[in-house]
Amino acid sequence: MSKLKIAVQKSGRLHDDSMRILKDVGISIDNGKDQLKASAKNFPLEVFYLRNGDIPQYLKDGVVDAAIIGENVLVEKGNGISSIEKLGFSTCKVSVAIPKSKTYTSIQDLEGKRIATSYPNTVNQFLKQNKVNANLHIINGSVEIAPNIGLADAIVDIVSSGSTLFKNGLKEVDVLLKSEAVLAVSPKISSENQNILDKLQFRLKSVLRGRQ
Ligand code: PRP
Ligand code: MG
Repeated sequence: MSKLKIAVQKSGRLHDDSMRILKDVGISIDNGKDQLKASAKNFPLEVFYLRNGDIPQYLKDGVVDAAIIGENVLVEKGNGISSIEKLGFSTCKVSVAIPKSKTYTSIQDLEGKRIATSYPNTVNQFLKQNKVNANLHIINGSVEIAPNIGLADAIVDIVSSGSTLFKNGLKEVDVLLKSEAVLAVSPKISSENQNILDKLQFRLKSVLRGRQ
């Protein structure tokens, strides 16, 4: 019998809540995150623990059928991948931040400036929409350090509690997008696995209603 292959973040902010929601829909998974793949005991499902940034490509290629992933990652790398259910956890924003001492009135203030980010596609689209030219520095993590070391005038990164910004003497001045965890589906899913996904989604909907 066929099994639905679902990607879940291996470690990081979405991992625990992703595992919790699978548990809440009554799916019990054999193993923790030490193994990169695990099977459910009582549902035709296999879980693949992957890096966030790799998940959109796996969905595109049909290596996995579905994923629990942040909308922000889909916006950045998820061309043509649809999100079918908002899951209500891991809410965050992708925002512009600048040093506390600086002023900001609009996105136009970024003209000619250096922006450090891990979200180049999202930022480029935003700049283009607003007809602003800026220089991007792409960094994979610890983006908030960039203004302090003279690498950038502004950053665009995830803001959740705001504590990373605060600790680095930065302030949020604009919001590019609001994000939460979603259930995303591969364009290559088979009809057999689509049926399993429908059952999973049905259960998720009822758990989400119960959480409200
Ligand atoms: C993420 C993100 C922000 C921070 C936001 O970084 O890149 O820096 O969390 O959360 P907060 O508003 O609650 O402080 P993470 O800690 O995952 O590390 P990384 O950027 O080095 O990947
Ligand atoms: Mg960070």
